[in-house]
Amino acid sequence: MLSHDLDFVTWRQGQQDAVERALDRWVRADAPAGLGDAMRYAVLDGGKRLRPLLVLATCEAVAGHAEAAMRAACAVELIHAYSLVHDDMPCMDNDVLRRGKPTVHVQFGEAQALLAGDALQALAFELLVPGDSSVGDAMCARLCRLLALAAGADGMAGGQAVDLASVGVALDLPSLEAMHRRKTGALLQASVTMGAASGNPSPEAQAMLARYGACVGLAFQVVDDILDVTADSATLGKTAGKDAAADKPTFVSLMGLAEAQAYADRVLDQAHDALRRSGLTHTRTLHALADWVGRRAS
Ligand code: IPE
Ligand code: IPE
Ligand code: MG
Ligand code: MG
Ligand code: MG
Repeated sequence: MLSHDLDFVTWRQGQQDAVERALDRWVRADAPAGLGDAMRYAVLDGGKRLRPLLVLATCEAVAGHAEAAMRAACAVELIHAYSLVHDDMPCMDNDVLRRGKPTVHVQFGEAQALLAGDALQALAFELLVPGDSSVGDAMCARLCRLLALAAGADGMAGGQAVDLASVGVALDLPSLEAMHRRKTGALLQASVTMGAASGNPSPEAQAMLARYGACVGLAFQVVDDILDVTADSATLGKTAGKDAAADKPTFVSLMGLAEAQAYADRVLDQAHDALRRSGLTHTRTLHALADWVGRRAS
């Protein structure tokens, strides 16, 4: 292993631990009638934490506000966790396994899963607005706006609506790209733009970071489509082979496995290129995160 690979693994594990500790503190068990247990089950002890890692790496690249970035990192992970809880429900993908455990609705029932998702979404925005003056009002407002845009009708929720409406439909490349950019890309891009908003980068750097985030976000869902076909359920921690079984249009159904991987690699090349053009110097971890997205096994 090259020494910079080792540096990245060490960085990643350290940040994953820090995010876990922060989430453990912020997602409390004392919500009424077992709701807190369902929320904690959905969030803690699982997942790659890619979105928080993107926030924190971007914050480092722009020498941003560490407290704001950790709040943003946890907020985007809460939106992601809520999206997974709802994505797995019988009215959506009807999955029973997530992060190596029974899905939230299997463990706690459908109504509690719905409410846990609702409460996690609200908690995400609560985190972005601390009750003290540790993060300035303008920064809080900007972070809230970025996350709201990415989670809502023009982002994740809208993309999920397109996903459900596309069962059995052979989408063409532009439509498939548009769906993936919304349902998955938007939150990943927001992770980068929120990290950028924790600092004060130049407009050029901001634009290039946004481009990097869009590329990583699109490539990430293409690789998710690939892994659904090539990996097994034990490795993924979720049921493999679901897309074909549910007749979902994916990059693999559109262009086959090899072309889909080549497509992801090309988009990730564009991500690296955007970083090089950002004018920022501390981008090594962001480059490493893009590489990780392309060659991840789960
Ligand atoms: C899975 O996301 C859902 C998609 C948006 C493709 P991740 O692969 O990031 O899931 P976790 O957080 O690691 O479990
Ligand atoms: C999920 O896409 C995207 C979300 C917004 C949650 P998938 O349905 O492909 O995610 P997995 O494969 O179940 O993790
Ligand atoms: Mg889905
Ligand atoms: Mg799913
Ligand atoms: Mg999938």
